[in-house]
Amino acid sequence: MNRVYIKTYGCQMNERDSEEVAALLRARGYAFVDHEDDADIVLLNTCSVRDQAEQKAIGKAGRLARRKRKEPNFILGVMGCMAQNRGGAILDSLPDLDLLIGTQKFHRVPEHLDAMIETMRGQGPRPSTVIDLEEEAGSQNTIKGHDVEGGPKVSAFVSIMQGCNMKCAYCIVPKTRGAERGRPIDAIIEEVEQLAANGTREVTLLGQIVNQYGIREFPFVDGKSPFVQLLERVHAVDGIERIRFTSPHPVGFKQDLIDCYGRLPKLCEYVHFPMQSGSDRILKAMRRPYSIAKFKSIIAALRAVRPDVYLSTDVIVGFPGETEEDFEATRQVFCELGFDMAFIFKYSPRLGTTAEELGDPVPKAVKEARNQILLNHLSERSLARNQQLVGSVQEVLVEEPARRGENLYTGRTRGFRRVVFPGSARLVGQLVPVLIHEATASTLSGELVLGGLEESEGGGVSDAAQAAQSAPASATH
Ligand code: SAH
Ligand code: SF4
Ligand code: F3S
Repeated sequence: MNRVYIKTYGCQMNERDSEEVAALLRARGYAFVDHEDDADIVLLNTCSVRDQAEQKAIGKAGRLARRKRKEPNFILGVMGCMAQNRGGAILDSLPDLDLLIGTQKFHRVPEHLDAMIETMRGQGPRPSTVIDLEEEAGSQNTIKGHDVEGGPKVSAFVSIMQGCNMKCAYCIVPKTRGAERGRPIDAIIEEVEQLAANGTREVTLLGQIVNQYGIREFPFVDGKSPFVQLLERVHAVDGIERIRFTSPHPVGFKQDLIDCYGRLPKLCEYVHFPMQSGSDRILKAMRRPYSIAKFKSIIAALRAVRPDVYLSTDVIVGFPGETEEDFEATRQVFCELGFDMAFIFKYSPRLGTTAEELGDPVPKAVKEARNQILLNHLSERSLARNQQLVGSVQEVLVEEPARRGENLYTGRTRGFRRVVFPGSARLVGQLVPVLIHEATASTLSGELVLGGLEESEGGGVSDAAQAAQSAPASATH
């Protein structure tokens, strides 16, 4: 009675937290199954960032709660941001829930489950709901284990901090994740070294405001922020060939970080850089402390160092008070900056945020139309940029078999474009050269360049990364 299924909603941080819970549970003898129907324990790791995310999890929890009524020993838990955001009120509509676990308590899940199962075995009364939502000092240091069952993970997330001290008017994250707390650099490096020893080749450093890492806890050294110091240390870890991070904030995206794109070859030329709006008026109303001119100047500085950098962003359409004029400003900047990837969100009011009192005055149809306009620009731009790659050789980190197609494998370029190509299992975890034949807005397809493969096997992947770095113009344009 200890087969577990974890369903994860929300951002990469949640994925990472679910993985931590899985690693801890597996170490205690719990087994994992691929489908909730086969599980004795289902844990939903939830997100509160938009209403839709919460509704999805609530719907799922409701259906699972009905199963509980037929199978009294079935265990159902809700973890993460929605648990933190809504607290015990969730039990009003879901009284059968067994566990309600906050964002600082993931590491306590195994002990809660052990105790619950013990009580059930003893045929005692059904234990009452475990509610564990308190803040816990040092909880940022508990997200550090990786689930290595099923082989090495080629690409891994590493949570370097928790929380956010910004007060963006629309955002629930500071409430769900608490204040900014960074982990010590040495602990992060130990985790990255362990990952590398287990076959990981790429790490993505995670934080809600990742470039602010350690800003209050650790000093600047030689004009370098704690985040840049961390990047340098991760860069020095043997076996790690690619470094990414998400999400940085314009505040704190200074020259020391920009310079890293010129001098740290493992740092991939792909930056997810949330803009939120192209209108200064709306940025101010959102309490985003930068002007659009400042945002553009950071991108210009990045492009001065890496002209081929790939850019991704987040934009919210329909924030209260967003006029046609404001949206037009967003549309223009969005086109001008030429994002290769973007997440466009329709504004969703969140209780307890400062924007709550502004209501939700922009009609749904207007939000929908604005959303569609930006998506159309995005797909045109992504397709054009991908088409430029046809005929070029791209360095691909091979991740896994493709979902469809026999003997097809998939991986990503340094610019985070997905590539599908015929390959074999022994390539997984290697950096290989792939000649690109075809492009859609989202995917590239191609074939391995013979000969280049031996080079990357024998010569060390680091050299291959360096080679791709030194010839980006010919490789990508
Ligand atoms: N820490 C990250 C973002 C975390 S939330 C950052 O600051 O960049 C991910 C994205 O969700 C945000 O960038 C924003 O675009 C979007 N988002 C947050 N709250 C939202 C809301 N109330 N309605 C719509 N989108 C929202
Ligand atoms: Fe939310 Fe703003 Fe913090 Fe990002 S920086 S998590 S959008 S409050
Ligand atoms: Fe959602 Fe929490 Fe991430 S609210 S976006 S899961 S930090």
